[in-house]
Amino acid sequence: MTEVNARRIDQFFLFYSARADNWRNLAASAQEWVRTPDNVAAVRAALADIAPAEQFHAFPGVRSLRTLAEFVEAGQANDAAALARRISEVILLDGGMPEGLEASEGSEPDGLDIMPTVLGDGGNRRPHFETLFVTEQPPHRWPALIDQFRCLRRPEDQFTYEPVFVGSFEDAVCAAVVNPRIASVVTVDDMSYRSRNEAPALREILDPLIPERLGNASGIDLARILKGIRPELDIHILSDRDVEAMAGNASLTGIRRIFYAIEEPLELHLSILEGIGSRYETPFFDNLKKYAQRPIGTFHALPIARGKSVFRSDWIRDMGEFYGLNLFLAESSATTGGLDSLLEPTGNIKKAQDYAARAFGADHAFFVTNGTSTSNKMVVQALMKPGDIVIVDRNCHKSHHYGFVLGGCQPLYVEAFPLTSYSMYGGVPLATIKKALLDLKSEGRLDRVRMLDLTNCTFDGHMYNTRRVMEECLAIKPDLIFLWDEAWSGFAHWSPFLRYRTAMGAASAIRAWADDEASITAYEHQQDALGSNPSDEALMETRLIPDPRKLRLRVYQTNSTHKSMSAIRQGSMVLVHDVDFGEIESQFHEAIFTHASTSPNQQLIASLDVARRQMELEGYRLVMNAITIALRIRHTVNKHPLISKYFRILGANEMIPEEYRTSGFRDYLEPGTSWADIVRAMHEDEFYLDPTRMTLVCGTAGFDGTQFKRVLADNYNIQVNKTSRNSVLLQSNINNTRSDVAHLVRVLLGICTDLEQKLKRGGANIAEAFQTRVKSLMHDVPAMPNFSRFHDAFRGDAGVLTTEGDIRSAFYSAYLEDECEHVHLDSIEIDARLGDGPELVSANFVIPYPPGFPIMVPGQVLTRETINFMRKLDVKEIHGYEAVRGLKLLKMEQFGRFQQDR
Ligand SMILES: Cc1ncc(COP(=O)(O)O)c(C=O)c1O
Repeated sequence: MTEVNARRIDQFFLFYSARADNWRNLAASAQEWVRTPDNVAAVRAALADIAPAEQFHAFPGVRSLRTLAEFVEAGQANDAAALARRISEVILLDGGMPEGLEASEGSEPDGLDIMPTVLGDGGNRRPHFETLFVTEQPPHRWPALIDQFRCLRRPEDQFTYEPVFVGSFEDAVCAAVVNPRIASVVTVDDMSYRSRNEAPALREILDPLIPERLGNASGIDLARILKGIRPELDIHILSDRDVEAMAGNASLTGIRRIFYAIEEPLELHLSILEGIGSRYETPFFDNLKKYAQRPIGTFHALPIARGKSVFRSDWIRDMGEFYGLNLFLAESSATTGGLDSLLEPTGNIKKAQDYAARAFGADHAFFVTNGTSTSNKMVVQALMKPGDIVIVDRNCHKSHHYGFVLGGCQPLYVEAFPLTSYSMYGGVPLATIKKALLDLKSEGRLDRVRMLDLTNCTFDGHMYNTRRVMEECLAIKPDLIFLWDEAWSGFAHWSPFLRYRTAMGAASAIRAWADDEASITAYEHQQDALGSNPSDEALMETRLIPDPRKLRLRVYQTNSTHKSMSAIRQGSMVLVHDVDFGEIESQFHEAIFTHASTSPNQQLIASLDVARRQMELEGYRLVMNAITIALRIRHTVNKHPLISKYFRILGANEMIPEEYRTSGFRDYLEPGTSWADIVRAMHEDEFYLDPTRMTLVCGTAGFDGTQFKRVLADNYNIQVNKTSRNSVLLQSNINNTRSDVAHLVRVLLGICTDLEQKLKRGGANIAEAFQTRVKSLMHDVPAMPNFSRFHDAFRGDAGVLTTEGDIRSAFYSAYLEDECEHVHLDSIEIDARLGDGPELVSANFVIPYPPGFPIMVPGQVLTRETINFMRKLDVKEIHGYEAVRGLKLLKMEQFGRFQQDR
């Protein structure tokens, strides 16, 4: 990372993460100035450092900054130190302009008592946000305009907001990016384009998007750019031109309201509040709260509802006390009387789902209360019929495999690129997917393929170029359906950096592209260049463009809202962007009926509703925070002289082979990496690393992943995500704080210090044992076996070039114990049969943890690589394998008879 350059306004991550530090520095230098009167230069420098970003924040505001500057110029060290400290405290607590501040501000000439505490009871505080005003008025008028807007506030307003004024297009973009408290925008229709500040990185990205940028720019262009960065923002346009014509322009989407100049300030004020109100509304949760307040007699199941059986009991009252009365008042098995049915929603659950669809940029959203394990099975069942082929990453979550078993579709397993040194996989290269489609096409079997099913991001953080993958696949098969399992990355929608790589982000981009006339020309040019009958080689080498007139965009996303947002455990969503959804809607509902519980938990549904509200109102800040925390962890661990001797967090260059990083991006920590480089990598590279998923290599400190995970949990109260042979996965989340980072760093430092001591004092034997252990963990890593093939008995209708098979028949074959056998992994029989047959055919899924993907699936022919991998495995948890009994295999010679019996 580069250092913050004080005059540049486009170092977005740095400004966000450095703001609190910069204020703390200013407060510290002012304090130092009190002690050492000659030290004013440092205060001036610190004040200059904060200036570029502060113009985009309502707090502390122009007046307080001016007051501070005046204290400095007048040599009032004590006053300056006190004011800087108090502003710094508010910013450190991530506070905005505290309510009530403005009332006293004008009457406080010395600016000292303007900061009410932010620590008190938050219960009565109205939610507060900031509104960006883009204006042509000269800056000296802004404070008066701010006052005018404050005068519009009324006690009955549900929220309060503070105006932030800027005077150019570029400043407006910077403000929206740098200041996550901005939730609403009011812009004039015509404004100057260039900022007075330096913004080279911003210009590199923004300039090509704005054709006529040198003179003035339009509010409509600004709205388009801001919506691309933060789609949740409400945008109001003030125009003194033909507002009726503007309002009648059908292509003008995403604008909340258009006003004729500022003729109706109160209406504008109310419109701003209403916009926030519509995001704040949580239809189901709001009703559930009302329901809980009503005196309701229950004569149906769920005795726990209303809590009487709990609070009247001597024996389980502690449960009531622990969870609180509201939980029980809000429990119900009713679907009427103010509630709704999750299985057939028509009321407030339907509305809550519609809001979620709006928030995540989908056409439809469905709440699921049994985790993404269930969401995946629902989507697979809804879209696939028996015999259909699904191209799928073999390394996907087991819910997909079980979905195929239940649905009877045939998986064509494709392999992700391996990261053998760390015993993990990345994502599936696009070339592998295209090859599978082209092979099927060459055998005349493309019609059998219905779906591509991929995990985005992978457990370890590999994000696909979702747009490119879908476009190229649609160029080969225009009606292919995509299921993106985004169990881990639902939050990514709220980052402009990551959204591009999400299913819904890419689907909107493709839809917009397909609606643009120019895309037909681009397609036709490519067709001309390829000729009438292009070879597979040519198609493999070309970045294929689909025919915009033919493609049917059918995109599904599943996400564990509980994994990355504020939903209760098991809260999950299915997001749909499918032009043909109407045709499969009834199937989709059947799939919901198949898998959903008929007693879904009310609190879970409410938490999905609330999670959506939170993300629509503060998701941008929270995700920016999660990314910033991750960058801090990455930086601190990898640059620390002692910690980095034993531990390392893998950069993008180590997690993604160079061939998939064609932009040249190496890592966030690479010196000189700019915001523009990150955006370029995000758009161009085949894979991108989600910064919040951090692979911490611990094999170099002599720990295997499982062992280190236990050490962190048992000794230091640190929970980590998954493990590999020599690493653990750390994940930063929307709830992490810098204190968490500090705790982690202390712990790692402590472990390293102990290790260092042990090695120093232990003598040669200890050092040698340590080196041997490190070598074994880091270098003696078993090669990971690819999927081999299904046995021919399960490939009755399969082609020659591809490996799909009937996994369901294989799975159910294992139900007949007589038709199965067990063979010990270390037996010589295994080796003999690998050489001379009969083939070893797995009867079930065998999934070791780690790595957590199926080494064997039902019906799979076992190869020497698979057996070698199993033999070298030193993990304790292997689902589907009992060491005492051995591998469970299908007796294939009897399989014909089994088929007849069925
Ligand atoms: C990629 C992936 N998909 C789906 C799931 C299942 O999600 P849930 O725990 O919400 O059922 C997981 C769980 O870890 C996962 O990693």
